[in-house]
Amino acid sequence: MRTFTIIVFYHLLFLGTTYAQSASVAAAHPLAVDVVESILRKGGNSFDAAIAAHFTLAVVLPRAGNLGGGGFVVIHTSNGEAATLDFRETAPASAFKDMFISDDDQTKVSSLTSKSASGIPGSVKGMWNLYLRYGSRKLSWSELLAPAILIADTGFFITEKLSEELNYNSSDFILRNPKGCGPFCKDLLWEPGMRFLQTTLAESLKGIRDFGPNYFYSGPIAKDLVRQKYFTFSDMESYRVRWREPLIGEYRGWEVITMPPPSSGGIALLQLLYGSERGSNSMEEIGTAESYHDFTEISRRVYEDRAKYLGDPEYMTIGIDKLLDNIYLDKRFSNIDPDRVGFSPILKKSIDEESSETTHLSILDKEGNAVAITTTLNASYGSKRWVSGFFMNNEMDDFSIAPGVPNQFGLIGYEINQIAPGKRMLSSMTPTILIKENRKVVLGTPGGSTIITNVFHVIRMYCRFGHSLQASVNAKKIHAQAWPNVLYLEEGSYSKKVVRKLKRKGHKIEFKKQIGRFQAVSNDQSAPDILRTGDSSGRVIFY
Ligand code: GLY
Repeated sequence: MRTFTIIVFYHLLFLGTTYAQSASVAAAHPLAVDVVESILRKGGNSFDAAIAAHFTLAVVLPRAGNLGGGGFVVIHTSNGEAATLDFRETAPASAFKDMFISDDDQTKVSSLTSKSASGIPGSVKGMWNLYLRYGSRKLSWSELLAPAILIADTGFFITEKLSEELNYNSSDFILRNPKGCGPFCKDLLWEPGMRFLQTTLAESLKGIRDFGPNYFYSGPIAKDLVRQKYFTFSDMESYRVRWREPLIGEYRGWEVITMPPPSSGGIALLQLLYGSERGSNSMEEIGTAESYHDFTEISRRVYEDRAKYLGDPEYMTIGIDKLLDNIYLDKRFSNIDPDRVGFSPILKKSIDEESSETTHLSILDKEGNAVAITTTLNASYGSKRWVSGFFMNNEMDDFSIAPGVPNQFGLIGYEINQIAPGKRMLSSMTPTILIKENRKVVLGTPGGSTIITNVFHVIRMYCRFGHSLQASVNAKKIHAQAWPNVLYLEEGSYSKKVVRKLKRKGHKIEFKKQIGRFQAVSNDQSAPDILRTGDSSGRVIFY
């Protein structure tokens, strides 16, 4: 077995390295990529560009880009400093354990569609804190907001994907927003190429430009949220982002810098990477029934650990180092039966499949400043409730609504992730940076519970099997997560023999149209997920 050590560092210092003549970016919309390029050309760094692109995505990608949501940032600077920023939403002070459950076990208030479905948004304070700590200061806060404001004010041409979404969701938008929701509530058929103007959103962005996060957390936007009974002023004013020590592991000579709790992503990713390298397993192959089987069983144990042990770090009773300990993991993976599919405890309720929307942005500037941001409203357009020009998240559904009952991604949770005031809900978002000598790779994807396995597969394809970054992103993905006991294969060509063999081992197989929408970059490459639906875009920028 290859030596594989997982190390949790508290600070990493490398000698400064000069990188390339170029920067690379991959994002979920071409306008966000244009904005990154313009900020870099004006002398900004990756972090400036990420802030500007985040606000731009809130305008051009309303299903997931946001002011009303939250997310995570993973950072590795040109002078070797690693950091993560948690701007995950928190539960309001009035939240309580059974708020979404009634006596007869029916959902009392929906954790996906009601006003109570929203956690306190973290995005605006997240971007502000990123600016304060890592912004170059060659560009002002106001200059970073300018592109998003311009696009909201003057409009942009909608793509086919956006027109389809707007038409598909139109009746829900109107139903959930009886007092209107700007351009989203229009009773017309959207077509690609139409101009989409968001003047209310532009006003909110101008307020944030002029007054900083106070405009959102104690000014007019807070007032609007309080008036509409989402939160109290105290909820809004007390929201805090957290700088957290990154999780750092090692895989095949690459340093893996990733997100700690309240993301489950980093721990689960490092567990998967370890599991795939341990002795006597078949994961040194790609595409065989044996490797799919082994992956399913490793993943089962990883998602079982996720459900049992992971949540807001202030509530965790089992240490990260224990969950990443080699002896613990060897024991955990020791009872995989190579011939039969395993079994995880039965659930109370089955799962409704829903869309899993989130968005990821990867940037690496020519100095070597790397930033990976994954941000979300949870479901597509969050709760579909519109306030001050933007949609609110429905992130409360990421708590364990009731132990043993799955959320929209089929993920179950135990007490560790139950609702409490001020608590952060567990996430699967896995922004990650890889480093080897003077090379960096920045990556991540949307996809709810499939994020973790998707990041795992891309890292394996790239670092272990030597595929190009784009080929690793393009490769068909597979996913398994203990509950339901299903192996998901992304639609494509699988040999009938492999599928037959898996069925003989007891696997239930389902095909998924698409798994994730990856955005990866390295020093001289941009690898957006252009094969899957969406408007992903990326480029290498010489400047
Ligand atoms: N809402 C999806 C996630 O945070 O994983």
